[in-house]
Amino acid sequence: MDRYAVFGFPVSHSLSPKIHTQFALENKQALTYEAIEAAPGAFEEALEIFAASGGRGANVTVPHKAAAAVLAQRCSPAVSLAGAANTLCWVDGGWEAHNTDGLGLINDLKALGWSLEGRRLALVGAGGAAAGVIAPLLAEGPEQLVILNRTEARAEELCDRFKNVPGASRLVSGGLNTRFAFDGVINATAASLTGERPPLPRSLWAPGAFAYDMMYGATETPFLQWAESCGIGARADGFGMLVEQAAEAFTLWRGVRPSTEGVRLSLNPAASAPHDNTP
Ligand code: ATR
Repeated sequence: MDRYAVFGFPVSHSLSPKIHTQFALENKQALTYEAIEAAPGAFEEALEIFAASGGRGANVTVPHKAAAAVLAQRCSPAVSLAGAANTLCWVDGGWEAHNTDGLGLINDLKALGWSLEGRRLALVGAGGAAAGVIAPLLAEGPEQLVILNRTEARAEELCDRFKNVPGASRLVSGGLNTRFAFDGVINATAASLTGERPPLPRSLWAPGAFAYDMMYGATETPFLQWAESCGIGARADGFGMLVEQAAEAFTLWRGVRPSTEGVRLSLNPAASAPHDNTP
């Protein structure tokens, strides 16, 4: 049977085995999917052993996403730009790297019914998580996409890196103390992992704005709690993005697009601590 796995360190919290096992059952695909813990430095060898024993695809999560982009024989344009991969496909005796996080976010925002076209969006954070979603967000045609980061120089560096993608003229950078208001604010920082939120001004929200946190947990993240205290009703965490990025990975591996409805209903992010939104 074809083998699939998620590689991470730690990895026991990952919901990916449950998600992909349900996708496989619903779509009558004969495959196994497991979680493999690989310490930094042991990832490449673990992948080699996996491929030699029937591994046909992998998800990659913290801290191996950048390493996956480097060791792959071929990279999709999204991976080359973001410098990070979350999905590997075994093709012609080598690994092909993809990044489905961006599409996962866009699909979830669409499922929520939140339009992006012509709207002013803020993406908070300038690390790997933010880099993975910039090009897909720009492709939706926002009026402006502003990268806000605690360390402003990192936001500027990201804008520079993406200056040649379609829609890049709408991409600008700024600090967390922005004076502007946005129709949608997406938190891509790692702040939730330490129980924090980026210190943003309450004037950040335009009327009818949405708040999205790419992290998820059993309770609302500090960023979403703060958004609620600012009167923002349209709020969502990254659980839907997790399910949607998984569906994109499954499609790449099996050529079958799973419906995400069943998994969304049957799985709850029962984790007690927040996780990032990725595999
Ligand atoms: P990832 O790959 O998950 O994006 P990263 O590359 O370490 O991780 O980036 C973490 C991001 O979260 C950065 O944008 C970081 O801001 P800095 O660039 O200023 O370090 C942001 N971040 C983490 N904790 C934060 C906090 N408490 N408040 C605001 N931003 C925070």
